[in-house]
Amino acid sequence: MTAQQEGNSTRAQLLERFPEEADITEEGELVIGGCPVSELAAQYGTPAYLVDEIGLRRQIRRFIDGLSARWPNSEVLFASKSLPCVAMYAIAQSEGLSVDVAGGGELVMALAAGVDPDRIYLHGNSKSDTEIQMALDAGIRGIVVDNFDDLDRLDRLATTRQGVLLRMIPGIETQTHASQATGGHDSKFGLPVDQLRQAIERVNASPLLRLDGIHVHVGSQILDSAPFASAVRSVAELGPFSTYDIGGGLGVPYTDGETAPSVEEYLDVIVAAARELLPASAKLMIEPGRSIVARAGITLYSVNTVKSTAKTFVAVDGGMADNLDIALTGQRYDAVIATRMTEPRTVLSDVVGRQCESGDLLVGEVKLSRPQRGDLLAMPMTGAYAYTMANNYNGALIPPIIFCAEGMSRLGAERQTYEDLLHLHRPALQGSW
Ligand SMILES: Cc1ncc(COP(=O)(O)O)c(C=O)c1O
Repeated sequence: MTAQQEGNSTRAQLLERFPEEADITEEGELVIGGCPVSELAAQYGTPAYLVDEIGLRRQIRRFIDGLSARWPNSEVLFASKSLPCVAMYAIAQSEGLSVDVAGGGELVMALAAGVDPDRIYLHGNSKSDTEIQMALDAGIRGIVVDNFDDLDRLDRLATTRQGVLLRMIPGIETQTHASQATGGHDSKFGLPVDQLRQAIERVNASPLLRLDGIHVHVGSQILDSAPFASAVRSVAELGPFSTYDIGGGLGVPYTDGETAPSVEEYLDVIVAAARELLPASAKLMIEPGRSIVARAGITLYSVNTVKSTAKTFVAVDGGMADNLDIALTGQRYDAVIATRMTEPRTVLSDVVGRQCESGDLLVGEVKLSRPQRGDLLAMPMTGAYAYTMANNYNGALIPPIIFCAEGMSRLGAERQTYEDLLHLHRPALQGSW
């Protein structure tokens, strides 16, 4: 191996979990979409979510092109709960990706971004009347019915023909965190087979509801492709329909210790099962979220303090307010000092946030290169389920999302301000208490 090849492979290894369009400068600084992170930090501040727009669009195409090459009558939906922001909905629309929304807020953002209602599907195990009405008014393509109350309300509120999918409980257990498993017998989502059969009869008898097919979603962050074949098998057992939605759930490798099926392997498994079990004319739908956006995004923090007590604590200017998923699922991530990417990582550290919880641990026992106050710290693989769960715990402000491509950066969403924070409290500010 030549010295250059060796250098390249080290660089590739260093960037393995980073966005596809990430790079490292001669000085060892991380670059996202052609934008050095120190420049992004100077322009937008930290914490900030950074997205590699080109890598993201490429990953979207892998799903759409990969599925349609294998099963032409297909539709890929973006599970928008993983990154609900207007810019992302607009990117989905421009790449030909449909979207699923999990409630009124996501629906409003999708419509505001210009997503064609004919490519929007509404989920939810606890939809409100208002949300159902919003979906009907917008004329979205499909409503995924979770329960009989959904059917009662659709019968009452629909005034024109509305397509529905019925969500089944498949009884499939997956190897993932309990909070991410949705396919087991005791899942709160969907109906078991006997009740699903009753729901099928109800929709078939309804004058305005059109039964498009069956939906299933077995869970999230699934690192093995077998459960997806089982999901196809479970919907196939219900008989022939025009549409089968196999849900999302393909996992991603957050750290060196994890491996996940590639998009191609995942599609091969689903389509092989579909060829064997589903009607050849049926439409095949999938709803990936995490596997579309996770790798495209990183979170950039500044180090506020480094303290060596029983451990070395590297405390950053964010925490569980901008990445709650870690506290919910225990998912392990990586973290790096973003301006010393090529230096040896020698200092065993706990990267902690600024929220008042000992559980506000972003990454435990990770080796960093000489962490110091003022450093920029990057956490890769945070494009999914981070921004979406951002909250105001301890008065934290929701960070901005910045899309980077070919050396240019643009705001997808602004940083929340203290004025925004006070806005909802106007009634209190106006009265005397
Ligand atoms: C119904 C449904 N579809 C799709 C997804 C997306 O899952 P993932 O982001 O793991 O692909 C979810 C997430 O849990 C979901 O609940």
